[in-house]
Amino acid sequence: MADWKIRKVVIPAAGLGTRFLPATKAIPKELLPIVDVPTLQLVVEEAVAAGFTDVVLVNGRGKSAIEDHFDIAFEMETTLRARGKTAQADGLRAIANLAHVHSVRQKEPLGLGHAVLCAEAAVGDEPFAVMLGDDLIDSVDPGIGQLVRVAQETGKGAVALLAVPERETSLYGIATGKSAGARRTAIEHLVEKPKPGTVKSNLAIIGRYVLPPDVFAILRKVKPGAGGEVQLTDALAQLAVEGRLIGVELEGTRHDAGDRLGYLKANLAYAMKRPELRDGLIAYMRELVR
Ligand code: G1P
Repeated sequence: MADWKIRKVVIPAAGLGTRFLPATKAIPKELLPIVDVPTLQLVVEEAVAAGFTDVVLVNGRGKSAIEDHFDIAFEMETTLRARGKTAQADGLRAIANLAHVHSVRQKEPLGLGHAVLCAEAAVGDEPFAVMLGDDLIDSVDPGIGQLVRVAQETGKGAVALLAVPERETSLYGIATGKSAGARRTAIEHLVEKPKPGTVKSNLAIIGRYVLPPDVFAILRKVKPGAGGEVQLTDALAQLAVEGRLIGVELEGTRHDAGDRLGYLKANLAYAMKRPELRDGLIAYMRELVR
């Protein structure tokens, strides 16, 4: 993939977000904020910081607020400008200008692999990235950019890996393989959500991928796997067997914003980086634990 410019990122966003009900009854989970920024905006900003220009959102019914968030909010901007709040209005416009955001629909919740396959026509015959909105990577060097460099250098697909505690391996896609240098694993085998005790590795896939376009052809043939869903991991397992997949342990901090405790921790971590919030938050946490 060395000669390819990797421009497009697919972001699946059609899920029902049941883990966050009732908050997600009428609001897409992807728009739940970390402090005051929707999680999905943080993910798109990571992509843009890594040089991506095109975002393919895989969206579902009832979640058009996501598209609105990346559009121009004309009435809001006009009102803010009339009130002299130019910086806020400019901030809103900057979100609309972040990237070309296209959306496609996943009409049925048939799994992550199926969601990625829904983006095939929008991606075309070129390598592309996939980013999952539940995983936030807080890093000076954007997480997805780290994977792009490895894919370009090796000509292989790249996925982000993270060593997780043994008891959590059944929540993830788990990779086994051989060390291929600092932070890199030549992946030989992948399994989606293995039963506890059935795999030796604790290297979990986290939601960042750079993939060759023939993954779409593989996905079309993949049968429903874990949870009765078409799993992206099962398609990647084929790349792994062919020696075409590298795992990369990313630099930076990963937050699991798809889990309630992880989401709360992410809010605290990002709030602590805000000078206007930090001191007040520390004082309040001291009060709470007294
Ligand atoms: C998905 C993938 C899984 C991966 C995880 C990372 O699972 O299927 O392989 O480890 O994301 O967050 P989900 O969390 O959507 O069940």
